[in-house]
Amino acid sequence: MQEEQDVELEARLEDRERFEPPESFVEQANVSDESIYEAFDEEWPECWEQAADLLDWDEEYETVLDDSNPPFYEWFTGGELNASANCLDRHLEDRGDEAAIEWVGEPTDEENRTYTYEQLHREVNEFAAALRDMGVGEDDVVTMYMPMVPELPIAMLACARIGAPHSVVFAGFSADALATRMNAADSEYLVTCDGYYRRGDPLEHKAKADEGLEGVEHEVSDVVVVDRLGDTYDHPMAETHHDYGDLVADHEGAEVEPVARDAEDMLFLMYTSGTTGQPKGVKHTTGGYLAWTAWTSQAVLDIKPEDTYFCSADIGWITGHSYIVYGPLALGTTTMMYEGTPDHPERDRLWEIIEEYEATQLYTAPTAIRAFMKWGTEFPDKHDLSSLRLLGTVGEPINPRAWKWYYKHIGDESCPIIDTWWQTETGGMMVTTLPGVKDMKPGSAGPPLPGLDVQVINPSGEEVEAGQAGHLTVQKPWPGMLRTLYNNDERYIEEYWAEYSDTDSDDPEDWVYFPEDGAKIDEDGYITVLGRVDDVLNVSGHRLGTMEIESAIVGVEGVAEAAVVGGNHEVKGEAVYTYVITEDGYEGDDEMRDRIVEGVEDAIGPIARPEAVVFTPELPKTRSGKIMRRLLEDIANGDELGNTSTLRNPDIVSEIEAKVSDD
Ligand code: PRX
Repeated sequence: MQEEQDVELEARLEDRERFEPPESFVEQANVSDESIYEAFDEEWPECWEQAADLLDWDEEYETVLDDSNPPFYEWFTGGELNASANCLDRHLEDRGDEAAIEWVGEPTDEENRTYTYEQLHREVNEFAAALRDMGVGEDDVVTMYMPMVPELPIAMLACARIGAPHSVVFAGFSADALATRMNAADSEYLVTCDGYYRRGDPLEHKAKADEGLEGVEHEVSDVVVVDRLGDTYDHPMAETHHDYGDLVADHEGAEVEPVARDAEDMLFLMYTSGTTGQPKGVKHTTGGYLAWTAWTSQAVLDIKPEDTYFCSADIGWITGHSYIVYGPLALGTTTMMYEGTPDHPERDRLWEIIEEYEATQLYTAPTAIRAFMKWGTEFPDKHDLSSLRLLGTVGEPINPRAWKWYYKHIGDESCPIIDTWWQTETGGMMVTTLPGVKDMKPGSAGPPLPGLDVQVINPSGEEVEAGQAGHLTVQKPWPGMLRTLYNNDERYIEEYWAEYSDTDSDDPEDWVYFPEDGAKIDEDGYITVLGRVDDVLNVSGHRLGTMEIESAIVGVEGVAEAAVVGGNHEVKGEAVYTYVITEDGYEGDDEMRDRIVEGVEDAIGPIARPEAVVFTPELPKTRSGKIMRRLLEDIANGDELGNTSTLRNPDIVSEIEAKVSDD
């Protein structure tokens, strides 16, 4: 049945390479005039006043862009504002009784929670007062290690209110990963929770947080623990550990004046994977970031206050920061949060939620769409999804087949799809179609947003011709950009700018941002992102550094050397393939394989779990001793092998190939 439907869909939509925005959408779109592209080019950088105008400023900014010291750009300089006041206080008058957050817990037998703007404002104030009493001051980094519970955005906004930057660590990351991030940020405060629900079972979280705290090298003053699971777990509370509910109750009715922050003051830090073993602390600011997320939420997600907007990402990643919390709340809309997985209790959970809440937008990842496709249309078909007006994807390339499935079976051919390319570092969307203006081309993210100078270039820095592949670059700064890597200006330049910039110059024209993605561009200026060109994998839309995984494996007893590459995976996009050399005296057996998998999960988390562990006596290396990763990738994918003649040890390749096909 499923196959028949797919065949029918393919036959009808297969050859279509272009889709116009539906008329019904265009008529009501926040942006529907093509002239915005030209206008923004002509008025750059003043065009970005339009983004700043979406916010309330305590002090007007003097300059839109200060580019006197590239690549340390500053936006809206001289301006002062508070992110929590922009996301809450200013909506109270008109939207106080409307839902700010609709939270859906995973278990179906408990009440979901609605926070009106009024209620959210109250609890944010109470928790902000508690944090302040605890001694949290401006610029103290507060770490949050929490799953999708409403107390996470509450804690983020409470920090923003008192000018304390937050650093959210994805709850699926390991204890070690938490410790690494707290150490790197010198963070003395942690907000966490006892546990949460996963596929029907309560999952303990506090023990993992405690283990992480043991690895923190400095003193941690206070730990706040949200009670999500009630009496399910008896977790020990040290003297410095406080119950979130008690703290909020103790500060009932407290009001905390939002601190006016300089536009360039840090709003938060977000650690992300790079090519070294050490995660990068991406710094985002109060003015530029908030303006960027608000503007893109309005122009691309087409958010209006009366919408019920649903992004299924986790707040532990940048997508959730920008497009569950800051962008949507800055616009005063209703943002949804779902705690669990899309297949619990049944594979129609998301569709059930959309139907029940009459969600107007769905923003999700291609990996989820591929899973939905695999499960079949019977699940969405059971539900009325006609409230949806727009669909979006983010995090990895979407293949045209998955795009068309999403378009037909979820959007009923009446919702535009935005395929949004961006990164933790860019703060918000960069390359995508404006849904009320541009035609869509499945598989291609689209043109750069207005006011952005994005080019695909060759190694000599020239733009490639249509159809050719090259490196994606951003040639001019934009308000949502990262400002630096926390405490590491040098690495900031090295990682993002050095490749194509004249790093001795103080002329902004000589500075080019390189996101480490490969791309193609077509004759209409539509960009197809081909994926990372560095040693970073994209597993289910999550970014993982191969070096991080390799160092975890090498830390396992009995491992001499390891190489990690990405192999194609039907649902995850990419999967972790590992090639391991054991030390003398150790067998590459099942026990060893289990220890390696466990080692990776302990160091990073289950998302980095290897799909395959291949034991080999040697790794293919060039004469200069460099591991030929490309060959290992070809082997993982069962592809024809590239040139092996430059190898020092060509025979090893067929040996590894034979092992992979045996497994
Ligand atoms: O390789 C690109 C891929 O995800 C990377 C950024 O990962 P992260 O910082 O974790 O942020 C993910 C959410 C914004 C990019 O360098 N990527 C992201 N969006 C797309 C994409 N690749 C292709 N198409 C996209 N729409």
